[in-house]
Amino acid sequence: MMMAVAGTETVTPLSILLWVALPYAAAAVFVVGHVWRYRYDKFGWTTRSSQVYENRLLRLGSPMFHIGILLVLIGHVVGLFIPRDWLYSIGVSEHAYHLGATWIGSFAAILTIVGLIILIYRRRTVGPVFLATTPMDKVMYVALGGTIAFGAAATFMLQVFGSGYEYRGTISPWVRSLFTLQPKPELMADVPLMFQIHVLFGTALFMLWPFTRLVHVFSAPVGYLVRPYIVYRSRDEQRGTRTKRRGWEEVKPPDPEKLRRL
Ligand code: HEM
Repeated sequence: MMMAVAGTETVTPLSILLWVALPYAAAAVFVVGHVWRYRYDKFGWTTRSSQVYENRLLRLGSPMFHIGILLVLIGHVVGLFIPRDWLYSIGVSEHAYHLGATWIGSFAAILTIVGLIILIYRRRTVGPVFLATTPMDKVMYVALGGTIAFGAAATFMLQVFGSGYEYRGTISPWVRSLFTLQPKPELMADVPLMFQIHVLFGTALFMLWPFTRLVHVFSAPVGYLVRPYIVYRSRDEQRGTRTKRRGWEEVKPPDPEKLRRL
């Protein structure tokens, strides 16, 4: 079934599924999922930090990844949410925008990818970190890695080494049309495949988000100061529950066997 839409473009059932139903479903899962997670898993709302197991690779990979992804985020807000006419009106020409977006975007992509490779390498090779990796973490890494890989591939292949693609005439107004509840799937019809796959991976990532360690984005670092403590307990029942010393009995040296088990 084909449906005529304002203008000459056509909208197919597949395009409605991919560019209307799926993003709205992802938005619903994202919002409801976070509310659910907060209500039922408050104490699991954490990065599940593995810093205690390994610090050297983490100290290198983590800032690279986080600074890179922050630049990517700023780029996405400017590129997707600020209409190009607004930028023209303050003197940012098409050429100037793409020069900036491509240079900063490429730098951000390299930083993010190298950081992510270090983090994944660490997760795979450091025994306790690998053991602390859940199946959900692995699914999340595929979605995150796929989103970043296709975003970077689109930037390098089309913007840096290709003839350039003006996504601010298609992808950006499509994103805004979703927010204004007047979805325009026809805008995504002729977008290069590399960008379409990037957006689909990104949509999948948003759906998984509330059920992964990515929830820490909404609490780090300020939320950590005010949230309830996470209580770590030793499995040794003696600790914390032993009767208080009255003060006059002889203090025995600690049992070396017990110390070894701690
Ligand atoms: C689902 C909504 C998204 C849309 C519509 C979108 C759109 C875009 C566009 C248009 C570009 C090209 C920018 C340029 O070359 O000037 C891009 C690049 C990129 N995207 Fe996305 N993106 C989305 C989600 C994400 C997410 C969730 C991530 C990361 C977790 C991400 C990571 C990247 C990266 C690493 C690049 C290459 C570096 C850069 O140009 O910033 N994107 N994306």
